[in-house]
Amino acid sequence: MTRSLKIAPSILASDFAAFGAECEAIEAQGCDWVHVDVMDGHFVPNLTFGPPMCAALRPHIKTVMDVHLMIAPVDPYIDAFADAGADIITAHAEAGPHIHRTLQAIRGAGCKAGLALNPGTPAEAAAPLIDDVDMICVMGVNPGFGGQKFIHSQLDKIAALRALIGDRPIEIEVDGGVTLETAPLCAAAGATVLVAGSAVFKGGSVQDPAPYGANIRAIRDAAARGLARAA
Ligand code: DX5
Ligand code: ZN
Repeated sequence: MTRSLKIAPSILASDFAAFGAECEAIEAQGCDWVHVDVMDGHFVPNLTFGPPMCAALRPHIKTVMDVHLMIAPVDPYIDAFADAGADIITAHAEAGPHIHRTLQAIRGAGCKAGLALNPGTPAEAAAPLIDDVDMICVMGVNPGFGGQKFIHSQLDKIAALRALIGDRPIEIEVDGGVTLETAPLCAAAGATVLVAGSAVFKGGSVQDPAPYGANIRAIRDAAARGLARAA
């Protein structure tokens, strides 16, 4: 079974004083996407940044700007994030009562639509939306912070989503708690995009980015081994 695996470092774990240089460093070190965690201090108990920061980052990202909106409400901000240059905008199923309309609005703004599911939200929540999404993001942790332990009950959800998706061109992204230990489990269950913050940025810096590349390669290799074992 060959599924292409993408590594998307989360800049939440990077140097906030050097975001542009950090994006350039992880891309130079071999990442596939750049995962941008937007938090509003309301939907999640943490606050990061908004559309102006994404616009400032866009010239420093040559690959995919994967914008994860941990905000509520979502709809008033979709156009601003699309105008800022987001390639993918992911909204949480739990962020409001009209997620179907939100996903339509994301696609209407010209971006790919992602649906994020918190650990307490079942895979079945994606079923009515399966033709309105380009990606499903399975949270491996409760959203808001990096460096948390992976919640292993999410592996069954990944497998259930893999079955639900069938041969549709929909990515399964796992976000939170992805490490050398959990990456193979997620890949074997059916994940195709692995978001990793602390596991990618640990040991490196903009001045010394080589550990970023070593970490990305190690995660990719571990995931590939997990996928091969599941074949
Ligand atoms: C959590 C974010 C994740 C997080 C990943 O709310 O959505 O992207 O930054 O960080 P690690 O990989 O350290 O768990
Ligand atoms: Zn995220």
